[in-house]
Amino acid sequence: MSKFENYNETSKSYDKTRIPAGVEIILGCLAKLDRPFEQMKILDAGCGTGNYSEALLKHVGHIEAVDINTGMIDVAANKLKSFVEQGKIHFQQSNINELPFADQNFDAVIINQVLHHLEDQAATGYSSHRLVFQELHRVLRPNGILIINTCSQEQVRNGYWFYQLIPEAVEMICKRYMPLEPLIEMLDDCGFSLNSRFVALDAMCRGAAYFDCRGPLKKEWRNGDSSFALVTVEQLQRVEKEIRQMDANGTLSSYVQKHDQPRKQMGQTTFVAVIRT
Ligand SMILES: C[S@@+](CC[C@H](N)C(=O)[O-])C[C@H]1O[C@@H](n2cnc3c(N)ncnc32)[C@H](O)[C@@H]1O
Repeated sequence: MSKFENYNETSKSYDKTRIPAGVEIILGCLAKLDRPFEQMKILDAGCGTGNYSEALLKHVGHIEAVDINTGMIDVAANKLKSFVEQGKIHFQQSNINELPFADQNFDAVIINQVLHHLEDQAATGYSSHRLVFQELHRVLRPNGILIINTCSQEQVRNGYWFYQLIPEAVEMICKRYMPLEPLIEMLDDCGFSLNSRFVALDAMCRGAAYFDCRGPLKKEWRNGDSSFALVTVEQLQRVEKEIRQMDANGTLSSYVQKHDQPRKQMGQTTFVAVIRT
């Protein structure tokens, strides 16, 4: 369960500012499997409102989608009702560290922007990540693929223009993202071998909403990004004042452009694809 974000609340507006960014990378990774798309069985681990599942449904055979939060699952199941009725997708509430599936059940597992919600720390060796990877290894078939969508710490610090406004929260959330090198080492330890690592420079988690200069003034927009759940009332008041001042003196859009420059070099997210040995 996310200890810092209220996903029952977030679920109500999540789809207004989030898109399945980089789904073409997932499709490219799946294409490497030794099985036709229409026969593939996929697990969407931490499916949220089902945006990635929705994008994959027209390609793959069947999707099992789990999330710990019932608000997110309800939105997803309602949105994809016709596919649920056709038996193409099945939703259930579950923690990804203890899945309700038999061993070697899936051709692929996708896990998009979930790992930073695990209760974990560098000091304790990211033990929750390890539990999750062991569980995903158990449910994947040999030669199946695990596709992880996460962020490098550099991407968190520099890949989002509005993060310059909330540095304290960004440092806190940064610590929740396991650095990529140890993450890949842990995956190796858990029985996965590295297949590939991708960054799509133009894939933005929030789609067009990312460029909304006045976004930080709106609760629904803020709810589309976990970092804002870590911003204090005082910090938020400071941000609102700063945005309003820049808006009034005509410097807001140049502020956005300036602080968006690093994203064009490093992207916002990294996909790590590993094969289950
Ligand atoms: C940022 S959202 C991502 C949702 C979706 N994967 C997407 O990319 O649109 C994170 C999701 O992870 C879920 N989550 C967090 N910890 C979880 C856990 N231990 N088991 C299952 N789901 C979890 C949250 O409830 C939330 O829906």
